[in-house]
Amino acid sequence: MIEEIKQIHEEVNGYAIQSAEDLEQFRLRFLSRKGILNEMFDRFKLIPNDQKKATGKELNLLKQFTELKFTDAQAIFLFNNLNSAETGDLSLPGEPYSVGSRHPVSIFQERVLEVFKKLGFTIAEGPEIEDDWHNFTGLNFPENHPARDMQDTFFITQDHSLRTHGTSVQVRLMENSKPPIRAVMPGRVYRNEAISARSHCFFNQIDGVYIDKGVSFADLKQTLYYFVQELFGENYGIRFRPSYFPFTEPSAEMDIACIICKGEGCNVCKHTGWLEILGCGMIDPNVMKMNGIDPEQYSGFAFGMGVERTTMMLYGIKDIRLLSNNDTRFLKQFSVE
Ligand code: DAH
Repeated sequence: MIEEIKQIHEEVNGYAIQSAEDLEQFRLRFLSRKGILNEMFDRFKLIPNDQKKATGKELNLLKQFTELKFTDAQAIFLFNNLNSAETGDLSLPGEPYSVGSRHPVSIFQERVLEVFKKLGFTIAEGPEIEDDWHNFTGLNFPENHPARDMQDTFFITQDHSLRTHGTSVQVRLMENSKPPIRAVMPGRVYRNEAISARSHCFFNQIDGVYIDKGVSFADLKQTLYYFVQELFGENYGIRFRPSYFPFTEPSAEMDIACIICKGEGCNVCKHTGWLEILGCGMIDPNVMKMNGIDPEQYSGFAFGMGVERTTMMLYGIKDIRLLSNNDTRFLKQFSVE
């Protein structure tokens, strides 16, 4: 039988497999249920025991060799199939992979935060659903006080609303940390306003707060002046106008020289040469006291700016709704800076 096995071995070795058809013929002849190998194994059971060891060894070698030849040839056909015309021309350039762009609001917000990070401000965040204390009462808006009407509010329950300003995070910082406190607080806020080209019911603000011993209005002005210079260039024009916020005393609004006409007067600045970009002031001692900070020992300034409005001025965007519509024709114009 050993002789016979060797002959089959020769035959397997010389068997030319050149097509899928050949491969199938090979399988049927040698490896199928009724193929030569199975027949040999059946006969192997009948040979005398003293021949079994040597014959078994040859038979197993033949089996391994045949199976290997089969799987090798099969792999080659599989590979050739993958490379056939069906999968296209592999030398062609790949499918274009479209890359997104940064949102203009994010680009501007990041620039602002970078400036304050350089000054040692940390970044703080708070919840968008706020209770009455953090959004109003803790900021010196007494119940039923008309100042609450400054911001049209989306109420959720009697005591909870969508936050109307990022200043709510200032209250959380004061109650949770000890001075010196120096933080900027970016985030989305909500107001119950009709949506138009100029106003939206949600937008982003960046608030800032600095509380320490001996903080003065001069520090507030210098910090904001530095901020404007970093953003718009050296000696960029700013001015402060007296204003009112319940949580600051004194309060001011800060204008910058119009980005479009640089102070000459144009449509964007309504021919004043100035654009209002933020509200600010010295934190009212009453607000500090209510939130556990001794106003005899500490003083602080705070400010808050709308992100969308300044972004629109920077990029000459005429309609605030473009910033939340997610129209890719609009968005893809803003590349990473
Ligand atoms: N929260 C004010 C608003 O939404 C903006 C503001 C003004 C924030 C003065 C402040 C501030 O922190 O000191 O209109």
